Amino acid sequence: MAIIYDEAQSIFHLQTQVSSYVMQVVRGKYLSHLYWGRRVEQYRGSRAIIWKDRGFAPNPDDTDRTFSLDTLPQEYPQTGNGDFRTCAYGVRQENGSRISSLLYDGYEILPGKRKLQGLPASFGTPEDVETLVIRLRDEVIDLVVELEYNVFDQRGIITRSVRFINEAQHPVTLTKMLSMSVDFREQEFDVLTLYGAQGLHSWNGEWYLHPGETFQTPEVVMAYTHEGLNGLSHLFHTFYRRHLMRGKHADALRPILINNWEATFFRFTEEKLLALARKAAETGIELFVPDDGWFGHRDGDNSSLGDWFVDERKLPHGLPWLADQIHGMGMQFGLWFEPEMISQDSQLYREHPDYVLHAQGRPYTIGRGQLVLDLSRKDVCDHVIDSVRAVLASTHIDYVKWDMNRHLTEVESGAYDPCQQGEISHRYVLGLYYILETLTSQFPDILFEGCSSGGGRFDAGMLYYMPQSWCSDNTDAVCRMKIQYATSLTFPPVTMGAHVSVVPNQQTGRVTPPGDPGLCGHERQLRL
Ligand code: GLA
Repeated sequence: MAIIYDEAQSIFHLQTQVSSYVMQVVRGKYLSHLYWGRRVEQYRGSRAIIWKDRGFAPNPDDTDRTFSLDTLPQEYPQTGNGDFRTCAYGVRQENGSRISSLLYDGYEILPGKRKLQGLPASFGTPEDVETLVIRLRDEVIDLVVELEYNVFDQRGIITRSVRFINEAQHPVTLTKMLSMSVDFREQEFDVLTLYGAQGLHSWNGEWYLHPGETFQTPEVVMAYTHEGLNGLSHLFHTFYRRHLMRGKHADALRPILINNWEATFFRFTEEKLLALARKAAETGIELFVPDDGWFGHRDGDNSSLGDWFVDERKLPHGLPWLADQIHGMGMQFGLWFEPEMISQDSQLYREHPDYVLHAQGRPYTIGRGQLVLDLSRKDVCDHVIDSVRAVLASTHIDYVKWDMNRHLTEVESGAYDPCQQGEISHRYVLGLYYILETLTSQFPDILFEGCSSGGGRFDAGMLYYMPQSWCSDNTDAVCRMKIQYATSLTFPPVTMGAHVSVVPNQQTGRVTPPGDPGLCGHERQLRL
């Protein structure tokens, strides 16, 4: 049993092969964090909370000055009633009040793990995973907060997510909704972060919750090890490979691919591609990928995004013919797309200027000469699905490189009410997940690789749909050692697209001599 409940002491013990996570309901009301660390067989009261009058810490009950929310390690900290530390969630009521207080309201232990509606999430059978749902409630505003813990005991992993349910007759706005919070009592830590962010917008995201509605946060994956970074990496790698990545390619050996981007950039013809492909086939390459520039009239980065039909000036025989030629050489055929984007110089923009993510009355901010589609709108998502599907269905395609080459700005949408504008960044991501779920399930044989100006979107959520991601446009061999090592801290090697390119390197200008195959990796590294 991965979840043990000690009713006498109201203690929840989540136990994996390597770790334990312990919580307690204090005074029948407050869910408090006791321990997260190396596995203990049985929780015997060590590290119990010390009750003591701590000077000026506020007390919910004046008859007991030893009890203060400000010093209680709360499992999901609230705001406005005496805990002055960082809160895990925030609300704004119709009357403007932002105070909220959550009290314990019961629990449920379930075999297996439920899907998270509209979101990527880990999965497992009832043999793999057990679920604990703890229900908290703000009695004043009838807001229910369900903390979900999924314990993969054999894998040493606990995942968490949170569900907000508005049981009131009035709407409420969520102003912060973290997937987890851990109140560490220790302070002597080194913090190592991977660049980037997962989850909801960290400072500008809101969600307007009508009566009866639910909001589900994304999932977070927690791993503890006493075996150092290597041990931690192994926990993450195995977990992602077995319980996150899906489909026939999830854990399969990847084909060796050649991509024409650095060889030609936008300046290619059918003959050039075929010449490159012939050489590639001779050297044992298994997959040939025409990159950016095969569609619309895209001779540079400021046109044609959104026009996903072949540029017959460059490829007069069309994509199906090109794919046949490549397959005829014994290689697979792949294709580059950037489906979330739109160029102002495009047929799509001329027909649907309203499809752009924009703020009413403000000028656009342009990035790499392009704009972003408003994926908070279902009709825009369906258009993206239809246009990509048309290419995938008419050509024998084995692989897709799904690129995304600019950040989001003016993240607002005319399709939603003023009170919902804070939802758009999350709605964008939900729209993207909907598109990816649809396309990857309609084309299960295609290997999808994520890319965002290189590794800008290397995250666990995307691996649920696309089991491979391009780490970086920096293909300099020396830089690459660090890039791939750092990526491997949490992501398994099978997920990493890695290219070898010419010297001098296109990004750094460095000339890296070929390695001596007789040397081991470390010796080669020293010589470089
Ligand atoms: C991004 C990608 C590159 C290449 C270009 C094409 O920068 O990271 O690999 O596909 O887009 O425009």
